[in-house]
Amino acid sequence: MIKRKHLMSGVRFIAIAISVLTTTLYSQKPASPAGDMAPETFQDIQVLKDVPADQLPIVMHYFSAALGRPCSGCHQTDRATGVINYPADSNGKKTARAMIKLVQTVNAGDFGAKINCATCHQGHGQPAGLQPATLMTFDQILQTNTQQAGAALRAISPPTDRAAGPGGAAPGGRGQPAGPPADDVLKKYLDALGPATSNLQSRVMIGTLTNRMAQAMSFSISQKGQMYLETVQTPEPQIIGFNGTAGWSKTGSKVSGLSGFLLDSALRGADMQLATEIKAKYPTLQSTRRTQMTLTPGATPIDVNILRGTSGPVTEQFYFEANTGLLVRRVTRTATPLNGALTETTDYSDFRAEGGVMTPHKIVRTNWSTLDTLTVSRVTVNGSLDDASFQRPK
Ligand code: HEC
Ligand code: HEC
Repeated sequence: MIKRKHLMSGVRFIAIAISVLTTTLYSQKPASPAGDMAPETFQDIQVLKDVPADQLPIVMHYFSAALGRPCSGCHQTDRATGVINYPADSNGKKTARAMIKLVQTVNAGDFGAKINCATCHQGHGQPAGLQPATLMTFDQILQTNTQQAGAALRAISPPTDRAAGPGGAAPGGRGQPAGPPADDVLKKYLDALGPATSNLQSRVMIGTLTNRMAQAMSFSISQKGQMYLETVQTPEPQIIGFNGTAGWSKTGSKVSGLSGFLLDSALRGADMQLATEIKAKYPTLQSTRRTQMTLTPGATPIDVNILRGTSGPVTEQFYFEANTGLLVRRVTRTATPLNGALTETTDYSDFRAEGGVMTPHKIVRTNWSTLDTLTVSRVTVNGSLDDASFQRPK
C-alpha cells in the first residue's frame, strides 16, 4: 500500500482516497436541507456545533491536510469490511475534539492571536517543535515559497480606498507600489496569449508528471469547453473527469463521484479559457500591487502585478509577469470554518506558442501534500474530442 501510494501523484492519491470515502459516507444519508448545522445532519457532533453541515467536509479535509494523515488517521476502520465508521469514537477523534476546544478557546480569547491546527502541526501528526537549522533542498525551497505565497496572501490587507472600486487600482501594500488597474493587466494578458485564445475549443496536453518522490509518469490533460479529463499513468491509471456538470474519479477500476472542494481543486487544471473567464468568476477582481518574485531558486527576480479575486470562501491571487503580461503563478486559498485555510499554488513557465496561443510547458502544482511538476511534451489544439470520453464510466 505504502509503495503504491508513493507511486501516485500526491494530490490525486489523497483526492481519490477521500472522494471514495466521502461518497461512500454521504450516499448513505439523505441530503441535508440547506442551512442545517452539523449536529442536525451528523450523528455525533460534540464540539463543531456551530459549523454548518455542508461545511463539515471541508473542515475534515483541513484536518487531514494540517496533520498530514488520511481520514482513517482519526476515524476507525472496520477490520472486517475495510469501511470507515465516521460516527464511532476513536482515540484520534477524542484527541482531536480536545484540540478543537483548544483552538476555539485561544481564538475566542483576548490573546491578540488566532491559531489553527496547522499553527502547531504543520502537516504532521505530532508537532515537530523547533527544527535544526539545515540547508534547504530544492523541494523544501519550493514548499517554503508556497507557504510564503500563502502568507503574502494573508498579509495583503483589503484596500481601504473604496473609491477605486472593482477593477480599479488599489494602493500597494507593505511599501509596494500600486499595480496597474485590473482591466489593463487582463488586457495585456490576453494580448500576450495571442488573438487565437478566444477560438480555443479544445486542447490536449501530454507529457511527464514528476512527483515529490522524483518518480516520473506520463499524464494527459484534455479540455473541451467546460469539460475536463486528467489521466496520470501510475501502475493503476488515475483519472479525474468533469462532463460540464458532474465530476468523477477513477482509480484502477474503481469509479466514484467528485464534488465540493475536491472537484474545485481538480478543476484548477481546467485553465484553457481562464483568461476570458476570470472576470466572470471574480467580478470584484482587484489589482493589489506590483512586487518582485523569483519562481525558481536562484533565478533573477521578476516584476509581477497581482490581481486578487474572492468568491465565497475562495480567494485567488493571479501573478502576471509585468514585462510579458503572462500569468506565472496562481495561488488559491480556501478558508475553512476553523480559521485554517487550504492553499494551492500553480506555477507556469516555459511558454511556447501552440495553435497561436502562448501555452506553458512547465506547470508546477504545490499544496499541503503534493509537489507535482508537469512537463508538457505535446499540445494539440482544436482537435476533435469525443464528448463521451468526459462522461463518468460505467
Ligand atoms: C484530526 C482528526 C480527524 C481527521 C484527520 C478527520 N476527522 Fe472526521 N472527525 C473528527 C472529529 C473530532 C469529529 C467529531 C467532531 C465533533 O464531535 O464535533 C469528526 C467527525 C466526522 C464526521 C461526522 C460523523 C458523525 O456522523 O458524527 C464525518 C462524516 C467525518 N468526520 C468525516 C471525515 C472525513 C471524510 C475525513 C477525511 C477527509 C475526516 N473526517 C478526517 C476528526 C477527524
Ligand atoms: C498549540 C499547539 C496545537 C494546536 C493548535 C493543535 N494541536 Fe494537536 N497536538 C499538539 C501536540 C503538542 C500534540 C502531541 C500531544 C502528545 O502526544 O503529547 C498534538 C496531538 C494531536 C493529535 C494526536 C496525534 C497522535 O499521533 O497521537 C491529534 C489527532 C491532534 N493533535 C489534532 C489536532 C487538531 C484537529 C487540531 C486543530 C483543531 C490541533 N490538533 C491543534 C499541539 C497542537
